[in-house]
Amino acid sequence: MKMKVIILFCVALFQVCCSANYNPDFCVANLSTPYTPSGYQCKENVTVDDFVFSNFASGKTIKPFNITLTVASVNNFPGLNGLDISAARVEVGVNGSIAMHTHPDASELLIMVKGQLTAGFVTPDHAYVKDIKPGDVIAFPKGQVHFAVNSGSEEAVAFAAYSNSNPSFQFLDHLLFANDLPTSTIAQSTFLDISEIKKLKTLFRGSRYEY
Ligand SMILES: *[C@@H]1O[C@H](CO)[C@@H](O)[C@H](O)[C@H]1NC(C)=O
Ligand SMILES: *[C@@H]1O[C@H](CO)[C@@H](O)[C@H](O)[C@H]1NC(C)=O
Ligand SMILES: *[C@@H]1O[C@H](CO)[C@@H](O)[C@H](O)[C@H]1NC(C)=O
Ligand SMILES: *[C@@H]1O[C@H](CO)[C@@H](O)[C@H](O)[C@H]1NC(C)=O
Repeated sequence: MKMKVIILFCVALFQVCCSANYNPDFCVANLSTPYTPSGYQCKENVTVDDFVFSNFASGKTIKPFNITLTVASVNNFPGLNGLDISAARVEVGVNGSIAMHTHPDASELLIMVKGQLTAGFVTPDHAYVKDIKPGDVIAFPKGQVHFAVNSGSEEAVAFAAYSNSNPSFQFLDHLLFANDLPTSTIAQSTFLDISEIKKLKTLFRGSRYEY
């Protein structure tokens, strides 16, 4: 009887410490596995570097908006897998614009660090808009169409936090003018002039950004 207990104890100890090299407290992404709605599969042999994102100012410039955006999501920051959080850093050039967009799957905080932005979100009967400066944080509820434009005289810098490890970004300009929806259909479904649609298609076609 005693022997059986000791053997069971040893088996349990082995399973906890030495079987697969997984930590039971978190599931760091193995980016070689496919992304699924519940995230990536867990990787083995986690290190501290899985929980550190570097080069937070290395992002791509989105041309007509004159912003440089770096998104730290589970796709390049494996430690975020399953945590329902992610972050971004954005530089908004003089007269630049984080144009109208939505994250259908994430609420957002935008934390001002430098300059001045006029930021807010819109609903059919009210625009919730304010000039924000360093020391201010603005919240955008999940799914609301929101924006932030540079209303100062210098470059603005802000950090964002999202309630999703892999938030989706949908810019209205891209939904309307960057895909292959025919101009006549856009005109009929938006009441915009054909000439304005053609101008915006030239501006935004090919500018879609992979986040
Ligand atoms: C990641 O997944 C691949 C494919 O399943 C596997 O071969 C590899 O060993 C995994 N890497 C880690 C670090 O878990
Ligand atoms: C994890 O580490 C163990 C022990 O060093 C090793 O046997 C195993 O191959 C490693 N797994 C991966 C996917 O690198
Ligand atoms: C974009 O922003 C930069 C940095 O603030 C500024 O120097 C430049 O003039 C802006 N470009 C346009 C086209 O407004
Ligand atoms: C920003 O816009 C203002 C007003 O339209 C204009 O006078 C200024 O030259 C613009 N600055 C840049 C850098 O484009």
